[in-house]
Amino acid sequence: MQPLRGTKDILPSDIKIWQNIYDIAKNLLHNYNYKEIRTPILESTDLFEKCIGDFTDIVNKEMYNFKDQSARRVTLRPEGTSSIARAILSNKLYLNNHMNRLWYSGPMFRYERPQQGRQRQFHQLGIECIGSEKPIADIEVIQLAYKILTQLKCNQECSLELNSIGNIKEREMYTEQLTKYLTKYAKELDEDSQRRIHKNPLRILDSKINKTQEILKDGPVLKDYLSIESLKHFDEICENLDYLKIKYNINSYLVRGLDYYNYTAFEIKTQLTHHQNTLCGGGRYDNLIEQLGGPKIPAVGWAIGIERLIILMKQKLNTEIIDKKIYILTEDLYNINFIWDVINILEEYNLQFELDITNINLNKKIRKASKVGAKTCILLRNNEITKKQILIKWLNTGKQQTILFSNLKQYIYYLKTIL
Ligand code: HAM
Repeated sequence: MQPLRGTKDILPSDIKIWQNIYDIAKNLLHNYNYKEIRTPILESTDLFEKCIGDFTDIVNKEMYNFKDQSARRVTLRPEGTSSIARAILSNKLYLNNHMNRLWYSGPMFRYERPQQGRQRQFHQLGIECIGSEKPIADIEVIQLAYKILTQLKCNQECSLELNSIGNIKEREMYTEQLTKYLTKYAKELDEDSQRRIHKNPLRILDSKINKTQEILKDGPVLKDYLSIESLKHFDEICENLDYLKIKYNINSYLVRGLDYYNYTAFEIKTQLTHHQNTLCGGGRYDNLIEQLGGPKIPAVGWAIGIERLIILMKQKLNTEIIDKKIYILTEDLYNINFIWDVINILEEYNLQFELDITNINLNKKIRKASKVGAKTCILLRNNEITKKQILIKWLNTGKQQTILFSNLKQYIYYLKTIL
């Protein structure tokens, strides 16, 4: 029996990497006063249709929609931002705090064609800085993504792409001109782009088809339709990124696949993985909360795809985990009280241990521990137990020494300094 196509078990051997990512993100985000929020995985279909946009791929083809027992239209969330915007309103979070800095993590669902780095159930770590229209908020969130990748030692392989897609009015003016221009070349465009000309022409900008890109080269450019105010916002972000020494490329074709963005749009890509190389996507969404029936609250944020980040980490780093566990190997389980006395001390000193409770003999237990990379073993043999002694064996060097049980605490104190 296999899991559903596009879904995966996350096995204990990988969990350490997941925990490492979350630990680093959690500490950093805590320092910047981002608070964790957890929203339901299941939301009304209506929410995502309103937020993400009717003509986007996500809403059109990728959502896991179904009707519940009461015939309500519900959806497994394809992303986190819509739910956060809804949560801000449902809980009136804006009343007590002018700023809400939030972070979240968890599974998202999109019915896409699975391949490496693209799953139907995947995980995002995301942040949303809600309550400021100032460029400093954009810079803060971009910088945080960059810092997380730096602490995970992945920043060298990543590049930041940045664009300003202006406000709704500017985009409407541009879209009108773009549609006019592309209509002239409709027959030469790829099939997907032909379909998008009247429904979502901006998405044609990031088409991967060479011919379409050729045609776009002579077309209208979004930047020419931006007001002084929009350009100023964008310039300030660029200047600050320069100051912070965060490298970026301006990509005037970057528009993102969700409709709620305005002004800043950005993506962090990797050079190492060939397919699905967008690790992080984000941008500003100043109208989303108002669009859902709330007050006008500007916001900016991003989400990192954890599976894609892990592919990069595994390609780049030696993620082998050093086994710091202490293996307790007994000749038999006859003198259980003594075993508990030893375990209690290990626990008191917060050492991780594994008691071998299999039926095999002691030599086989030692071989088994050695095979899984164990360094330190505590051997409890009947002979020593009667003398209240313990044998410590170092599997990597073969050295061993006998200590008195009464000296175990002192020995552990020493062990902790070298493990
Ligand atoms: P997004 O670009 O749709 O943005 O997704 C963010 C990241 O999720 C992607 O860059 C990618 O790493 C990961 N991702 C997306 N789809 C898949 C998939 N099928 N399999 C594996 N990973 C995937 C958003 O979701 C926005 N909510 C980001 C945001 C937050 N904007 C503002 N605030």
